[in-house]
Amino acid sequence: MKTTTLSYALLTTFFLIGCGGVSSTSSTTPPKEDDFLTNPNLPSLHILPVIADEDGNVNDTRATYTLTAGKNVNVTIETPGKSWITPMWRYNGNPLPIVIKAKRGTDMTLNFNNRLDADSTIHWHGFKIPAEMDGGPDYPVTPGKSMVYRFTMDQPASSLWFHPHPDMQTGKQVYMGLAGVFLLNDEISRELEQMNQLPSGKQDIVLLVQDRRFGMENNGVKELLYMDQNMDGDGMLGDIVLVNGSQSPKMEVGTGKYRLRLYNVSNAKNYDFAFSDGRSFTVVGTDGGLLAKPVKVNHIFMGAAERVEIIADFSKDKVGTKIGLVSKAFQDDNMDMGGGMNGNTDNNMSQMNGRSPNGTQVNIMRFDVVKEMTDTINIYTALPERAEIHTRWDPQNADNIGDEREFDMTMSMNNMGGMATFVINGKSFDPTRVDEYLSENSTEIWNITNNSPMAHPFHAHAIQWQIISRNGIPATGTDLGWKDTFLVKAQESVKIIGKFEPVNQGDYMYHCHILEHEDAGMMGYFRVGNSGHLDDL
Ligand code: C2O
Ligand code: CU
Ligand code: CU
Repeated sequence: MKTTTLSYALLTTFFLIGCGGVSSTSSTTPPKEDDFLTNPNLPSLHILPVIADEDGNVNDTRATYTLTAGKNVNVTIETPGKSWITPMWRYNGNPLPIVIKAKRGTDMTLNFNNRLDADSTIHWHGFKIPAEMDGGPDYPVTPGKSMVYRFTMDQPASSLWFHPHPDMQTGKQVYMGLAGVFLLNDEISRELEQMNQLPSGKQDIVLLVQDRRFGMENNGVKELLYMDQNMDGDGMLGDIVLVNGSQSPKMEVGTGKYRLRLYNVSNAKNYDFAFSDGRSFTVVGTDGGLLAKPVKVNHIFMGAAERVEIIADFSKDKVGTKIGLVSKAFQDDNMDMGGGMNGNTDNNMSQMNGRSPNGTQVNIMRFDVVKEMTDTINIYTALPERAEIHTRWDPQNADNIGDEREFDMTMSMNNMGGMATFVINGKSFDPTRVDEYLSENSTEIWNITNNSPMAHPFHAHAIQWQIISRNGIPATGTDLGWKDTFLVKAQESVKIIGKFEPVNQGDYMYHCHILEHEDAGMMGYFRVGNSGHLDDL
């Protein structure tokens, strides 16, 4: 079994690095909100690059891509102030996270080359695929080696993503810049786009939101700062929030409707997204696909690894209007556990180590309405009946009704030594142990309970869940969408139901998607069917 305690020496090292960063981070403080809405110097939003199918034929049902993970890709970080260069880890040497687009039914061939000097994998987050293609830590790709991932994408249109998942290094590798976007479309989503019931093309934008912390500038270069394991219990939080690689960028839009695919792919941070003028917007999709019925809201709270598709409506705005997308201040139910380093001096410490705690207001980006356009989009009011999301699984028909599977997330600390442990059902992750055994093709109810003082985003591989209830209250609103990751707040209990498909065979993970919690052991394996890879290890 792995040790998951965090040594005091490590914390001390981090403390020193953190203090060194103070002068540099204060010069890049985002402008005040008034400045943000009028500031003429915001960088322009980068549109993430879509990479091409290597077999050249976009109309067949096969697609091939190569993804090479490498270090030292010099990325220009643009901000409302000075920009700088940061060496990052990226796929294919691209300075930006890359996007793969595919149609439902496509047979994917993904050639992964590991040019890092550590083990890595590619995990396909939210995909319904066999365990041996899932990129878990039980299939490490060693430095210089390659692996071919092959699977058929057969699930509803959705905003998926991929990232490394090596043993105890996931947080670091994602933080250094390894993550990509996978957009799956299907007959229904294409039909809605054609009928102008969903924005598409230039009005369909991926927004990848990630917080980071940078060191002091040295000849125009700032290194990313990452603490190994945890500075405190919250996981790695940065003081600069990047959208598609830039801080507080602006995007020029016309007077129409835009589909924004919001990805919270931060290591640990939660956001409460809203527009600066409080306007409402329409949520049309969650992690695993489009909502049966769009939901109107004026803010949306997202934990790490969650995605939503929202429709922002600028059709009634005058040219010249500027609208901010912000993360509103919220009550932080996260608890700092710095092993005695926090306590009364929490605020000072947060400044000293360059963190911005969860819950502070952030200027995410700005939409500048610069031109008139005819708004032809009329958002769908209900997905066609054949959409899978219309089937709500009846808990009465679950295979484990009356004996629901329980997952308790807890954490504990030891103030003296700066130790923290993160466990599920009292157990820390063991890379050779199967924690839960499920029969194939089963429909199961899981009950996730958070007995810790902070929110944890729970994620299970292989499946898209339906949320039944939170603390016994039946799911409503965006909780009615497909979810592969969902926040379980402190002292909350979330009941979910999911159906494992014939393709789901073998050993998969479930874990907290605060990546530092995951790396510290808040994770386990479940086996679907009779056999799995862990038996061979
Ligand atoms: Cu994005 Cu194991 O997860
Ligand atoms: Cu996953
Ligand atoms: Cu957690």
